[in-house]
Amino acid sequence: MPGLVSCPGGLIVIGILSLCVVHISSEIWSNEVSDVQYGSLGSSVTLTCGGAQHGSPVHWRQNGSSVRFRHTHTSNGTLILHNTTRSMEGNYSCHNQRGVLLQTIRIRLGHSPGYLNVSCRVPSHFIIQCSWTQRVTTHLPTKYITTYSVNDEWAQHCEQSSMDVNECTIHNHEFWKPKYLVNITEVNPLGSNSTITYVDLQKSMKPHAPKAVTVLEVTGEPTRLLVQWNFPESWPVMAGLPLKFELQYRPVGSNLWSKLETEDTSAMIMDALEGHLHHIRVRAQDALINYSQWSEWSQVVQAQPWSDPLLTAKVTTEQLLDFPIFPSTFPVKATEKSPDLPLSENGSLGLLITLGLFAAVMVAVVSTVTVLLWIRNRRRDNVTKQELTSMVKMKSLPV
Ligand SMILES: *[C@@H]1O[C@H](CO)[C@@H](O)[C@H](O)[C@H]1NC(C)=O
Ligand SMILES: *[C@@H]1O[C@H](CO)[C@@H](O)[C@H](O)[C@H]1NC(C)=O
Ligand SMILES: *[C@@H]1O[C@H](CO)[C@@H](O)[C@H](O)[C@H]1NC(C)=O
Ligand SMILES: *[C@@H]1O[C@H](CO)[C@@H](O)[C@H](O)[C@H]1NC(C)=O
Ligand SMILES: *[C@@H]1O[C@H](CO)[C@@H](O)[C@H](O)[C@H]1NC(C)=O
Ligand SMILES: *[C@@H]1O[C@H](CO)[C@@H](O)[C@H](O)[C@H]1NC(C)=O
Repeated sequence: MPGLVSCPGGLIVIGILSLCVVHISSEIWSNEVSDVQYGSLGSSVTLTCGGAQHGSPVHWRQNGSSVRFRHTHTSNGTLILHNTTRSMEGNYSCHNQRGVLLQTIRIRLGHSPGYLNVSCRVPSHFIIQCSWTQRVTTHLPTKYITTYSVNDEWAQHCEQSSMDVNECTIHNHEFWKPKYLVNITEVNPLGSNSTITYVDLQKSMKPHAPKAVTVLEVTGEPTRLLVQWNFPESWPVMAGLPLKFELQYRPVGSNLWSKLETEDTSAMIMDALEGHLHHIRVRAQDALINYSQWSEWSQVVQAQPWSDPLLTAKVTTEQLLDFPIFPSTFPVKATEKSPDLPLSENGSLGLLITLGLFAAVMVAVVSTVTVLLWIRNRRRDNVTKQELTSMVKMKSLPV
């Protein structure tokens, strides 16, 4: 490959390629209507009526009606449009004094190309994909010439798969040469402009996300999850170039990810939270270039570790058996555990208060009766002890 430049065959191939480029460019412009005239927005555009006899006055129309813009007629049959705006585009026709059509000219207005926003991504050692957008909207038919050079060597073609998509791909088979210059040249009827982008293959290396992430429970292992995935489609597995993977997992609802690193395409999570749903995701990085970029994360996959069906059933019955100890007068919900505590506390508290009140009333009644009896005793000394006991009994009855 390094001998390509010195090889005449290589030169001929490149020569043919550049001929093709030139050919394509002329084809694109000739496909446009033959009498289209392009002008720069904001500048002045001069239209010349080709069929006019020298010196005879002509009449101009735009889209079929008389021209209404500020303009200048000249006696030589030309129309000059000043400070052009997009509303001045359209079909212009010139007519002689009898109204006979002499010529039509289509005017399209826009801007000459500016620089482009170019970004290149390197999903593997063998592919560089560049895409671009205009910084200046030109309003004009545009094409792009896309080339690149490696380590100052001869410019080669960056392949555009479609003229409608602003994207080109370098199929690179010299991945040991890390410095690339990508030249995207925008060409339109008003001019051309080249944007040169430097690509450091190693720093820009960013694989696509791992594909087909699946998570399996492991029978008999309530804290394990087996995670499997595939290499990204664009990664040349056959070339034997290694990727390293980072796997992250967390129980649903937790903010903290736990992580595992591996060069394999599977990994076993050993410390999953028993009985919980987990979120799992995987990303990839070139294993040889440690300053290359991590891929995007794969889709998040949701999975729960294995749980013993018998054990689950037992736990449920035990929870139910906890509650019948309380009499049915206490409002206890068997389904939710946390709201039970305040409810049963309220129940015992109520019982205590009732008992306390009852005791207080008893004390009050007994002391009142005692006081009354004492008073009576002092007033009537002849009252018998027998009568007293019966009175105490009678007073306490209503309570
Ligand atoms: C201008 O002319 C072209 C063909 O010459 C035609 O397709 C187009 O519709 C015309 N536009 C207007 C606004 O008349
Ligand atoms: C074009 O516009 C500029 C300012 O926008 C003005 O000064 C100038 O007179 C205009 N020219 C004509 C011919 O209308
Ligand atoms: C003439 O037609 C073009 C489209 O072909 C349009 O952009 C322009 O505004 C039209 N102008 C007038 C004055 O109708
Ligand atoms: C390319 O575009 C930039 C603005 O984006 C401009 O300053 C420069 O003059 C243009 N070069 C050419 C050759 O038109
Ligand atoms: C970029 O490509 C264009 C078109 O092929 C060419 O004219 C220009 O010289 C190139 N620029 C550089 C810096 O290689
Ligand atoms: C990257 O790898 C080089 C050697 O391969 C090592 O010296 C360097 O410390 C590594 N850097 C990081 C951030 O791991």
